[in-house]
Order: sequence, then C-alpha cells, then structure tokens
Amino acid sequence: MSDSRFLEQVAKRRTFAIISHPDAGKTTITEKLLLLGQAIQVAGSVKGKKGDRAATSDWMTMEQQRGISITSSVMQFPYKGRVVNLLDTPGHEDFSEDTYRTLTAVDSCLMVIDAAKGVEDRTRKLMEVTRLRDTPIITFMNKLDREVRDPMELLDEVEDELGMMCAPVSWPIGCGKAFKGVYHIGRDETLLYQSGMGHTIQEVRSIKGLDNPQLDEAVGRELAAQLREEMELVTGASNEFDLELFLQGQLTPVFFGTALGNFGVDHMLDGLAEWAPAPIARDTDVRKVDPTEERFSGFVFKIQANMDPKHRDRIAFMRVCSGKYSRGMKMKHVRIGKDIKVADAVTFLAGDRANVEEAVSGDIIGLHNHGTIQIGDTFTEGESLKYTGIPHFAPELFQRVRLKDPLKMKQLQKGLQQLSEEGSTQLFMPRKNNDLIVGAVGVLQFEVVAYRLKDEYKVDCIYEPISVNTARWVECDDPRMLEEFKRKAHDNLAIDGGGHLTYLAPTRVNLSLTEERWPDIRFRSTREH
Ligand code: G4P
Repeated sequence: MSDSRFLEQVAKRRTFAIISHPDAGKTTITEKLLLLGQAIQVAGSVKGKKGDRAATSDWMTMEQQRGISITSSVMQFPYKGRVVNLLDTPGHEDFSEDTYRTLTAVDSCLMVIDAAKGVEDRTRKLMEVTRLRDTPIITFMNKLDREVRDPMELLDEVEDELGMMCAPVSWPIGCGKAFKGVYHIGRDETLLYQSGMGHTIQEVRSIKGLDNPQLDEAVGRELAAQLREEMELVTGASNEFDLELFLQGQLTPVFFGTALGNFGVDHMLDGLAEWAPAPIARDTDVRKVDPTEERFSGFVFKIQANMDPKHRDRIAFMRVCSGKYSRGMKMKHVRIGKDIKVADAVTFLAGDRANVEEAVSGDIIGLHNHGTIQIGDTFTEGESLKYTGIPHFAPELFQRVRLKDPLKMKQLQKGLQQLSEEGSTQLFMPRKNNDLIVGAVGVLQFEVVAYRLKDEYKVDCIYEPISVNTARWVECDDPRMLEEFKRKAHDNLAIDGGGHLTYLAPTRVNLSLTEERWPDIRFRSTREH
C-alpha cells in the first residue's frame, strides 16, 4: 500500500457502535445497515425469531440463538465511498463491561431510541460512558410506524436528560398507521413511506419543497398543514446541525424512521458516512498517537471465547490505532516485551470468519489468543507505549466459589485467574482466608464462569452467597498510612486477579464510613487495565 493510498484508506474509515435500551431495535437496525451495505441480500436472514431467544439460564444456547448479536462482533461493509466498521455490543445487560470497553474502541456512536418510550435506563448509562470521551453521537428515533410520543417532546427529553443539543435532520409526518414519511430538512424534500417493504431497499418517492401542492396530495391536507406548522416551530426552537459541535460531542443530529420498515435508516447512514469522524488520535501513557502515522499500533478491548465451536481458541479483538496490519507481520506485545508474528488475524462478517490481508487505522482485527493476551494490551511495531483509558468496573455482585472435588484447587485457581485476566469476571482473594470470591457486574457472568470452568478447565464448582456489597480499588500516596490502613481494615481487604489491593465492603454504609474515616485514601470504583 503506497503512502497516499494508506492515507486515503484511513480517511474512509467510520468506526462506530450502537447504544440503545434492549428492544429499542438495535438488532433490526443492524440488519438494515448490513442490507444497505450489501453485506446481506435480504433482511430476515440474520436473526432467528424472537421466540427462539433463550432463557438466560443457558448462555451458550443464548449466544447461538442471538446469532449475529453476540457472535458477529465486528461487521465491516462499504457504503458510499466509506468503509464502515460496526462494532456490536452485547444486548444483555449482564455483559455491560464488554459494552463499555467496546465504546472505547469506536470513534462515534449511533443512539437508537424507541420513540414510543423515549430515553430509557440503559441508554442513559451507556451515554454516561460516551460522555467521558465526548464521543460524537448520531440519534435515530425508531418505530415511527407505531403510536409514538410527540417528536418535540422526544428532543427535549434527549436535551434535558442526556445534556446534548439536538439538531433534527429529518422530521416525521404522522406516526403509527398514519405514518407517511419524513421531511428531510437539509435536502428540503419529503420522502414517502410505504409499509411492508422493510426486507428490501425501497424505491422512495420524494417531493421537493414544503409548499409543493403534491405534498398535500400525498400525505393529506391535515398532515401537510401540521408539518408546515411544526417546521416553523422547529426552525425557531431547535438547533441547526453544526459539524464542529457534533464532533465535540455537544450536539447530535436526529433522524426519524422505522428500522422494521427500513425507512429512514439510509438517511441516518448517509449522515454517518458524511459527518462521523474518521479515526481519531488516541492517548497513550507516552504521547498521543495519530491514526495517519505509518507505524502500526493497536489495543485489545475485548476477548471472546469459543466463537466457533470448531476453533477452540479465544479471539482478542484489537482496534488498529495507527499504521497498517498486513498478514505475517511482526508486532511487539508491549506488556510482555516480546515480538510475535501474526499470520492469521481474522475479521467477522455476518458470522463468517475471513482472514484479513490488510487492515488500517480504524479497523478491528481478531488475534488468536492462547492465553498470553489480556484486555487492555497494546501492540506496536516496536515502540514502548500503552494505550490508556480502557476501564475495569467495580463489580456489584459477589459469590464465593466452592469446588465439588477439593483436589482440583490448582485447576480452579488457574481457570479463575485466566478468566479474570481476559475480563470475563473479576477474582478477589481475601487476605484473611483462602476463599476465592468472584465478582460480576451482571448475574449471567456467574453462569458463564461456571460453564467455562467446567468446559475448559474441567472443574465443577458451586457458588455460595457472601456478604460483600461492593468493591473499591485502594490507592494511597503515603506508604505509612497505607500500611496502617492495611492493618486496621485487614478483614475487609483482598487482592484482585491483577494483584491490586481491594476493599470489599459488606454494606454501602460501611463503605461510606470507611471513606470518611480514611480521607487520604482513594477508593476507586473503576480501574484502568
Ligand atoms: P434490540 O436488538 O434493541 O433488543 O431490538 P430488536 O431489533 O430485537 O427489536 C425489538 C423488537 O422491536 C422486535 O420485535 C422488532 O421487530 C421490533 N422493532 C424494531 N424496529 C421496529 C420498528 O421500526 N417498528 C416496529 N413496529 N417494531 C420494531 P419482536 O416482536 O419483539 O421480535 P421479532 O419477533 O419481530 O424478532
């Protein structure tokens, strides 16, 4: 690849993830994006029927049945001269740590909101994470083919609750059975919706201009009059799209449509292709790295096991941050200070594994991991630097692990250590006894750990309740005070899987009291890898 071709390729990349509350339509919209990107031919081929969605008790079956949502973690497709990388985030709340970390690997996000419901819990939580780095957000108000809330009210809610200005790019005409389409403000044209065409890319009829009498004919006089009135209001009361403010994460362009009806998704994707940032510069412990630098670098944000039952390995997902990957190249694994040769990185397209020949900044590649790669690891073409900002969250749920066969202690320790290194769970070893405590952000994580301990490490374990309410990583600049704290709080202290000192609080009240009593000690609820 020549220098100019490399720069051209980087400039084309648009790497993003979808944030939404479960059931808002993330899977449906993903499918339509793949349809528009011609990665699939007919919508409906991606996901099994909802009835197949498994009970949460069997996570392997759940993975298989959710199909694309969990196993196809990265989808790449070309669109209007761009190369779009869509990073999937697990829909289930219990995998939220994975989701948070995935958000560190993208340059922008698409927020999908169910327009009947407005801003919901999980969206609120995920948006908090994107606010930490001012990630640019594009908004899609979904399900206009249903009875939905007043569009102006929805925009107000986003502004008030998420603290972001809204700039409507399109505006809906009616909703539910009376949904007629949208008026595209930037293009000054009305695009008419036809129901029942969601499985294909539709031929859409358009009417130029708001005063066009054809508009009255097409949507009815009442809705046309309402639209004109609303547009006057919108022009006066809401923000115009401003690229700079969008790139700073302060303003979100808003699109309306229906993912199920595949209407309006293309307007949103056009906006994303045009406005969303190409790969951005990223922080390391040494310096900022620019995506256009020639030398390769990247970091691992996620590790996933058993993606394909035929391949028993784990895949480490790496965001390329600078330079290019080419097959067979040597990379430096910075944490362990060794060079490794990567002959067979992979990418995933609608469930298929394909070998990557080349990848550039903004792309995601999958490395086969045989236990040496951890979340947060940086790889370079020789330079010693480490990407920062990949978070680890204090778990909220804790269980003590007990073996069915006490002779398998070694395997159990090894298994838990490895699973905690790859970020599947968090492990805590109290200082006062030999317990092994597993911490999780969601209940399902416990089942995943038990399943994998049995499947991969051949140990049967059971969980027992334990009175730990939350954990905090302990830091203190004064070594003497730290020693004193260690003595006094001995019974509540543990070492985590990465060797960090942790305070296990039996109750919230206990945590606040302890924080009050030790004002010079920092009790951190997140830790960087
Ligand atoms: P998620 O990944 O965010 O959890 O949501 P998903 O796409 O699975 O959508 C949740 C439900 O909402 C699905 O219905 C889906 O068909 C429906 N849906 C998505 N977009 C629209 C839309 O624009 N209009 C309408 N009316 N419905 C929409 P389901 O009945 O729960 O599942 P299924 O049997 O259709 O798969």
